[in-house]
Amino acid sequence: MATGIPPKTKSVKQKIPVSITYDGKIDADKILEGSYLTFEKIVDVNGSGDNQLFCGDNKDALLYLLSNGYRNKVKLIYIDPPFATASNFVNRNQEHAYSDALCGGEYVEFLRERLIIMRELLASDGSIYLHLDGKMAFTMKLIMDEVFGEENCRAFITRKKCSTKNYTKNTYGNISDYIMFYSKTGKYIWNRPYSPWELDKMIEQYPYVDEKTGRRYKKVPVHAPGIRNGETGKAWRGKLPPQGKHWQYTPEKLDELDAAGEIYWSPTGNPRRMVFCEPDKGIPVQDIWLDYRDSVNQAQKTTGYPTEKNYEMLKLIVNASSNPGDLVMDCFAGSGTTLGAAFELGRQWIGVDCGKESFKAVIKRFTKGLESYGDYVSGNTYVQCEMDLLPKCPFEVWGNETTKDMILQTIYGDEEDENT
Ligand SMILES: C[S@@+](CC[C@H](N)C(=O)[O-])C[C@H]1O[C@@H](n2cnc3c(N)ncnc32)[C@H](O)[C@@H]1O
Repeated sequence: MATGIPPKTKSVKQKIPVSITYDGKIDADKILEGSYLTFEKIVDVNGSGDNQLFCGDNKDALLYLLSNGYRNKVKLIYIDPPFATASNFVNRNQEHAYSDALCGGEYVEFLRERLIIMRELLASDGSIYLHLDGKMAFTMKLIMDEVFGEENCRAFITRKKCSTKNYTKNTYGNISDYIMFYSKTGKYIWNRPYSPWELDKMIEQYPYVDEKTGRRYKKVPVHAPGIRNGETGKAWRGKLPPQGKHWQYTPEKLDELDAAGEIYWSPTGNPRRMVFCEPDKGIPVQDIWLDYRDSVNQAQKTTGYPTEKNYEMLKLIVNASSNPGDLVMDCFAGSGTTLGAAFELGRQWIGVDCGKESFKAVIKRFTKGLESYGDYVSGNTYVQCEMDLLPKCPFEVWGNETTKDMILQTIYGDEEDENT
């Protein structure tokens, strides 16, 4: 792998901004001036204080939050909106959950409007993750750059979403989707995530063992591309850096590394840096995620909501980009995977979804726990979540009696049926 050489002087040429145009693109100020219509809301779903679940169009809920004290308050937003699939989605019991009908410019503007409001809700050290697949991810990347700034794009993650397919189409199996990670500013919450080492991978990446300490290490060059006229371009221990290169460190720092036993000298007298493996820390997570597939087997516990995302993946995101006590939001909440992860990790949460089946799934998640995916057989075999959650009802309901009835039915419906 070659590393490019940065130019010594930055180009003075202005970068020509790239933008995306389509019919119906509304001015950002107009979007923020918008007023909100009604929605339903319940609070204290899991008895942890400031959590709120809105049922209604998220544009209304976001505008409501903006004018009710939440500007710059949200530390982390994860969204997994519809992907423009032109499909309807049903839950485990074949009940209609949501339609994914928007496409083209209409889809882009629908999401852009909401992203603009989300930006205002994000704290200055906050981050947003947008989860999409190949259909709209690349178009929306341009919108994300426009709304949050290209310089704030921190990662474009490729996730393996399902098992390998035996494709009948004449193309490669489609097993990936994408997660864009943007921060609001250059100073953002970041708790680097690590995954545990597997022994064979450790041996492959750190093939040498230090005789003195018994620690595994790899050898990396101590020079980098580009000529330098200062200290790093001069001879160190009588050796000049290879042609067209410079030492990565000053001679003083190289002496320090050598004294600390971190320089390997080849039999021909060439220095290499010894980078030691830190087995307890694990491997820093990279931008290809292979271990977070959605409901991989029948035994996996889910709410049964369609397109429910991998719970461990949400825990990774919540841990990496927020701290305990922070406010986490998912305004395309679905079954509330983000909300569950936020709760388990001691964060406050706000969830929004416009579908009643989503509302029910979230309430079930927090009151009854998850069910094994099974063979699509319905029944009341709920498994209490690992979290210690008890049905907490009546919730404080901010809506109408129908909502309250629906919540009670969701929680106690099965038991009432059994008793009658
Ligand atoms: C892909 S699903 C989210 C699944 C979720 N990540 C999970 O793990 O369960 C997308 C969700 O967005 C919701 N949705 C679509 N348009 C919406 C809108 N305008 N306001 C609120 N929710 C919306 C749908 O009802 C659906 O539940």
